[in-house]
Amino acid sequence: MGFPKNFLWGGATAANQYEGGYLSGGKEPSTLDAITGGSHTTSRKITYKTKEGKIESVTREKSLPTGAIGYIDPEQYYPSHVATDFYHHYKEDIALFAEMGFKCFRLSINWSRICPKGTDKVNEEGLAFYDAVFDELLKYNIEPVVTINHFDIPMYLADELDGWSNRKVIDYFLFFCETIFKRYKDKVKYWMTFNEINFLRSWTQIGIHDSSLQGKYQAAHHLFVASAKVVKLGHQINSDFQIGMMVAYIPSYPMSCRPEDVMESVQFNREQEFYIDVQVKGYYPAHKLKQFEREGVVIKKEAGDDELIKEGTVDYIGFSYYMSTVSSANPDKVKFVGGNQMPAVKNPYLEESDWGWGVDPLGLRISLSKLYDRYNIPLFVVENGFGAVDTVESDGAIIDDYRIDYFKKHVAAMKDAIDLDGVDLIGYTPWGCIDLVSAGTGEMKKRYGFIYVDLDDHGQGTLKRSRKKSFNWYKQVIATNGEKLENN
Ligand code: BG6
Repeated sequence: MGFPKNFLWGGATAANQYEGGYLSGGKEPSTLDAITGGSHTTSRKITYKTKEGKIESVTREKSLPTGAIGYIDPEQYYPSHVATDFYHHYKEDIALFAEMGFKCFRLSINWSRICPKGTDKVNEEGLAFYDAVFDELLKYNIEPVVTINHFDIPMYLADELDGWSNRKVIDYFLFFCETIFKRYKDKVKYWMTFNEINFLRSWTQIGIHDSSLQGKYQAAHHLFVASAKVVKLGHQINSDFQIGMMVAYIPSYPMSCRPEDVMESVQFNREQEFYIDVQVKGYYPAHKLKQFEREGVVIKKEAGDDELIKEGTVDYIGFSYYMSTVSSANPDKVKFVGGNQMPAVKNPYLEESDWGWGVDPLGLRISLSKLYDRYNIPLFVVENGFGAVDTVESDGAIIDDYRIDYFKKHVAAMKDAIDLDGVDLIGYTPWGCIDLVSAGTGEMKKRYGFIYVDLDDHGQGTLKRSRKKSFNWYKQVIATNGEKLENN
C-alpha cells in the first residue's frame, strides 16, 4: 500500500518564471516578456504600442486593443527577463534537485527560444540549450516532464497573427512540437500540451486581442485541435510518449445544501471539467453546446475537427491543485479571498496563506477522487504548493515549517486517495521547487521553493541558491516513498 514503487516525485517550474536568458542564444521576445512586475495589491501591467504609436498599458487580466502590439519599455523592470536564471544555473540547480532525490523534473520549453518568431525558422542554439538540460537531468536519472507551452506565445505571432484567434497558429505550433518531439524523442517521455488550458484567455497567455466569450472559445477550439494533432503526432514519432493535458483544478463546494447553491457549484466545476472532457473524452459536452447557443457563441470549425478531437485524446490528466472555492447563488453576499488566477470565495472552515489562498488538503483527495471516478485515466499532480514570505536568519537558515506543514497534509491526502479511493496517481511535482517569479503578482517575495534564491521584487540580488528547512524534509519524503512525513 502507499505510493507506487515508480512514483514520480519531483518539482515543477515554467520557462517564463524561472529560465531568464530573455534574449540570449537567439531567443526573441514572447508576450510574457512584456509584462511588468506587480505586488500583492497592484496588478502586473502589459506595456503595448497602439496603432498610432502611443505607449500605453493595461492590467494583466485585460487584452490589448485591436491592432496594438507588445512593447518592451527600457525604463521598466520585467521579471521574466532574468527570472531566477535557470539559463545560467541549470547545472547547479539540477544537482540540488538530485540531492533531494527527484525522480522527475517538470519544466516548460520556451517556444520563442526554439522558433524565435514562432514560425517555421528553427534556432539551433535554443535546441542545444534544452539538450544540455535534459542530458544533465538524465545524468542523475531524473525524468524530464515537459510542458510544451506554459502561459505565453512568441510575440511575433501575437502581433502579426492575433495569436490563437488565428487558425494558422495551429500549424506553427505543430511545427514547433514536431521539432522538439523529433529532437528529444529519446530523452523525454512525459509531455503536457498547454499549461492550465482553462485559464488561457488573454493577450499575455495566447496573444489574442478579442477576449469576449466568442474570442475566448474560438481560441480554445484552436487549442483543442492543436492539442489533438500534437497527441497524434507525438505517438507517431514515439509510441512510448505519454502526452497529457493540464488543467487548473479548483473544486467548488456549495455554500450550503440549498439546491440553488449546489447548482452554482455544478456550473463552476463544469467550466473547468469542460476542458478535460474535450481532451479526455474527445467531444464538447452538451452543457457547453447549450451555453454557446444561449450566448450566441458560434465556433468556426473545419471539416474533420470533431474527428480529430476524438482521435487525439490524452494519455493522462496533469493538474494543478492549490485550493478549493465555494459557490453561492448570492454572490453579492460572499467574501472573496485570493486565489490561483482568480479570486476564490472564502470558506470559513479553512485557513489562508499570506496571499489569501485557502489551504484545503482534503480538497486534493476530493479532486483526485472526482477526476479519477469521472475519467478513469492516470492522474499527475503537476502543481501544488504554498507561496509565503521566507525569512533568512542571521546564520543563513530558512525555517519554513509552514511550508512543510502544508506539504505534509497534501502528501497525506494523496496517499489516502491512492490507498482508500484506488486512484491511479503517477506523480507529484510541487510548484516552484526552487524560488521563481510569481505568475499572478510578478513578485519574488511570494516564494514556493525548497531552494531559496537571493533575488528581490526589483531584480536585485546575487541569485545565490540555498537550502531551506523544507529541502531536507522533502528529501526524506522521497527517500521513504512518502512514508515518513514528520518534520524533525
Ligand atoms: C499556476 C501556474 O497558475 O499557479 C503557475 O501554472 C503559477 O505558473 C502558479 O506560478 C502559482 O501562482 P502564483 O500566482 O502564486 O505564481
